[in-house]
Amino acid sequence: MNLLTIQYLFFYLAPIASAPLYDQDVSLDYDYFKLAGSSGVPAMHAAVLPPHGKVVFLDKVENYTELLLPNNRYAYSSLYDPISHELYPLSVATNPFCCGGTFLPDGRLVTLGGNGPLLWLDPTVSDGFDAIRFLGSSNAAYHWTEPGNKLASKRWYASAQTMSNGDIFVAAGSLNGLSPANHSNNNPTYEILGANSVSKGKSMPMDILVKTQPY
Ligand SMILES: *[C@@H]1O[C@H](CO)[C@@H](O)[C@H](O)[C@H]1NC(C)=O
Ligand SMILES: *[C@@H]1O[C@H](CO)[C@@H](O)[C@H](O)[C@H]1NC(C)=O
Repeated sequence: MNLLTIQYLFFYLAPIASAPLYDQDVSLDYDYFKLAGSSGVPAMHAAVLPPHGKVVFLDKVENYTELLLPNNRYAYSSLYDPISHELYPLSVATNPFCCGGTFLPDGRLVTLGGNGPLLWLDPTVSDGFDAIRFLGSSNAAYHWTEPGNKLASKRWYASAQTMSNGDIFVAAGSLNGLSPANHSNNNPTYEILGANSVSKGKSMPMDILVKTQPY
């Protein structure tokens, strides 16, 4: 070990040696988190909704959840009221597994992309690879709606961002949810959703998504 190495070692070790290993004043006796209720469905996604702070949970098509819909199928989404602790099942029309999401300027939540249907588990939920789902409220009741406008391409694991003009930037994802090691499964493009979250219809190549593949 030469002198230079020793100097470096000292330089790096000195601050570590003088820092306490742990802070003895920290007590772990009190609760950081308290169990307040149940989401009823696995919380793959959770979002606090304006303006009243209700919380939506969003899952995927499953073999089991704690909540049933009026049609006796499992719910894959729920709405939780942190004040009253009431929990409501919400239905989805398409499989939301691995969708992206963002808020619209009017406060609605929009989720984008997802997974294919799992018809042997639930024949009432269809293909979500190019889905656009909105969560809004009317008369204080929340519903997911899918008016039918779709993404320009299939996106499993999409990312989304609302821009200052209200358009939504949607990027990346997989075309089929299969191995990311195979480049032809991936979707290294972006698209823009304009007014009413309708896609402008073109998936534009995005080189950084090729370079940073898989995701
Ligand atoms: C549901 O999950 C259970 C437990 O993993 C499994 O035994 C059962 O076969 C599954 N049912 C279906 C329809 O996939
Ligand atoms: C890669 O994916 C494409 C499209 O899904 C498929 O046609 C092809 O056979 C795959 N290649 C390999 C080596 O798995």
